[in-house]
Amino acid sequence: MLRFILIALSIHAVHTQAAAPAETDTLTAMRVLRDECLGCHKPGKAKGGLLLTTREKMILGGDSGTSVIPGRAGESLLYELVLEDADPHMPPKKQLSKDQVTALQNWITQGAVWDASVFDELPVPQPVALAPVPVTYQPVLALALSPDEKTLAIAAGSRVHLHDLTQPDRPRLGSLSGHEEAIQSLAWTQDGTTLITGGFRQLKLWDITTFKTTGQISTGFVGNLTALALTTDGKILFAADGETGGAGFIHRIDLPGKKLLSTWKAHDDTLYALRLSPDGSSLASAGADKLARLWKVADSKLISTYEGHTSHVLSVAFNKDATQLATAGADREIKVWDVKSREQDVTLGDKKTAFTALAWTPDGKALVAVTEKGNGSIYTELKKHDGAQRSETAKQTKLTGIAAMLYSVAVTSDAKTVFAGGDAGKVWLWDAAGKQTSVIEP
Ligand code: HEC
Repeated sequence: MLRFILIALSIHAVHTQAAAPAETDTLTAMRVLRDECLGCHKPGKAKGGLLLTTREKMILGGDSGTSVIPGRAGESLLYELVLEDADPHMPPKKQLSKDQVTALQNWITQGAVWDASVFDELPVPQPVALAPVPVTYQPVLALALSPDEKTLAIAAGSRVHLHDLTQPDRPRLGSLSGHEEAIQSLAWTQDGTTLITGGFRQLKLWDITTFKTTGQISTGFVGNLTALALTTDGKILFAADGETGGAGFIHRIDLPGKKLLSTWKAHDDTLYALRLSPDGSSLASAGADKLARLWKVADSKLISTYEGHTSHVLSVAFNKDATQLATAGADREIKVWDVKSREQDVTLGDKKTAFTALAWTPDGKALVAVTEKGNGSIYTELKKHDGAQRSETAKQTKLTGIAAMLYSVAVTSDAKTVFAGGDAGKVWLWDAAGKQTSVIEP
């Protein structure tokens, strides 16, 4: 909302003032570059040989030479090509608005000052018409055990099923329906009375005794809310957001007030996972940009970046005292990092399948991982490897493989039951020996 207001204000300013303040033109011009030009003028897709990712590259220009002469808009190719009768015309299939063209002109005239902060702004949500999720599409993208471990919440497509784990046959207690889109993420409040669901551009809160919504937040989001993390006092909720293929943002939300407090760009690509440290002081994030990051909960400042995966990082988990962080990658590796030194203590996995989800028991004794091929392992007795003993870095208990992709995992704190969610709303169960014991079907 704030962004809409800012844009409305900046356009208004261009209309009414003879010489608009430089800052307004800079922001407008650079948002034009970001939203209308960068798609075709970025590394890997530099049309006309031109990159518009930095001021230096822009000035250096493309096949025809310099594209901007700061101070001289009329002699700058970048300005000439956005005019109505230009040939070639930029962007090729569209005419920028008069305000946008004027902003570009003023910006170049004023020296083409670069303000990279616009690249970190949340994009303007594009309108979409959502088709309801087909009943047959029910991947279990999220699973969450209630804090007392008596109830399992299973996100299956657009609904959540709640199952009673205190009964031997784990009967269904009820279902939450209200989302039309696939539910991506779940979080319980510490008292176990409320479940939070994250879908497409909306969060819902549910009373789990009545199975009814008690509130929702549906402004300020731009895409799928792929992960949630709630502080133990239930006051601050972190939600991962982003457009498909776009940067990953983290929202800081005042949950009782149902209010967005702040938003920051956390990763250059889709964010897949968020996890709070057991003491609630730091937040780990993981994304398609091959990175995991650690943020300070108090002020959302970046603490560390963990670099080493060669593909998407799909899940993160902390050990008991948050001295170690485990990350699961599409590069078929699980890495266990020393949180402080950012060094890799242990590398796990047979490099055959991508790991999709991780869970670490609260006592830090068992780390569970599941894969896209229906496999998984329970790792215990993790040891730092010192090169020579690479093969003996942990005790591995393999989970009996099943013929389905697994998306999500949960484990009881005694490590005696592992739950993993697959397609068609199904959740498979394994015991501590890795034996597959039963299936919860929708
Ligand atoms: C859909 C892709 C696309 C978009 C979007 C796009 N361009 Fe281009 N751009 C091209 C192509 C293709 C060329 C090469 C055209 C040619 O040489 O005939 C080009 C060439 C240019 C050049 C000339 C480079 C040179 O040195 O020859 C400039 C300057 C330029 N674009 C600026 C822009 C600006 C500014 C925007 C946004 C307002 C923009 N482009 C948006 C595809 C795009």
